[in-house]
Amino acid sequence: MRKPFIGGNWKMNTDGKSAVELAKAVAQKCQQLLSKVDVSVCPPFVYLSAVKNALGSSGIGLGAQDVYFEAKGAFTGEISCQMLKDVGCKYVIIGHSERRHVIKETDAIINKKLIAAIDAGLLPIFCVGELLEERKAGKTESVVKEQIQKGMAGITAQKAKAITIAYEPVWAIGTGLNATPQQAQEVHLMIRQLIAVMYNKELAEQIIIQYGGSVKADNAAELAGQPDVDGFLVGGASLKADDFAAIVKAAAEKKK
Ligand code: 13P
Repeated sequence: MRKPFIGGNWKMNTDGKSAVELAKAVAQKCQQLLSKVDVSVCPPFVYLSAVKNALGSSGIGLGAQDVYFEAKGAFTGEISCQMLKDVGCKYVIIGHSERRHVIKETDAIINKKLIAAIDAGLLPIFCVGELLEERKAGKTESVVKEQIQKGMAGITAQKAKAITIAYEPVWAIGTGLNATPQQAQEVHLMIRQLIAVMYNKELAEQIIIQYGGSVKADNAAELAGQPDVDGFLVGGASLKADDFAAIVKAAAEKKK
């Protein structure tokens, strides 16, 4: 049985004060749902410690939005896995579409980051998803497959257990245009089948596959109702505690 997992990706938003307030409100509103769902929030690096404090013993996990694959040294501006662990991170988002397309991060870099994160004991949230023109050209399956095959290259089945996959169609991110439940289910099932081929059936059954892209309180229940949608990675709606809590609740009520 897969326990739904909802992550809040705050992206480059909040400030010191609002990050702490948001974390406290999320903890207060979601805490009682944690027997049914796992929840994490991913603030900007500079607020990780303050947010960790604000979350206290709520049981809500702390995640970072990125990490560098080297352990330490002359890499100005980068943050290592151990640094994230040091400030209390459990999760780290890797390969988000904004890093792939804005920062030009490659599958090879993403692969190194996934390996480094797992080896350090972090739980990666590994993002994949196609561009609008790729979907229109009927390439969704091949694009997502390639991202997963290259991103997870050389990662054993044992290590792959640490990974959550987030399917985030790029055209649905921040656009208000979510994938339909059927579109999401189709890709999630394809991903699960791919994991069965790359690894084994057991891992395919266990792996959590989140959907991300304009998830809101009013579309979360229908998306969560799809058999292979195991939760969400939420951007904009994670910045309002009430909206995020409503999404968490919708996932908690997912029919088995
Ligand atoms: P939105 O929920 O704002 O569309 O963002 C999704 C996302 O990119 C989460 O990582």
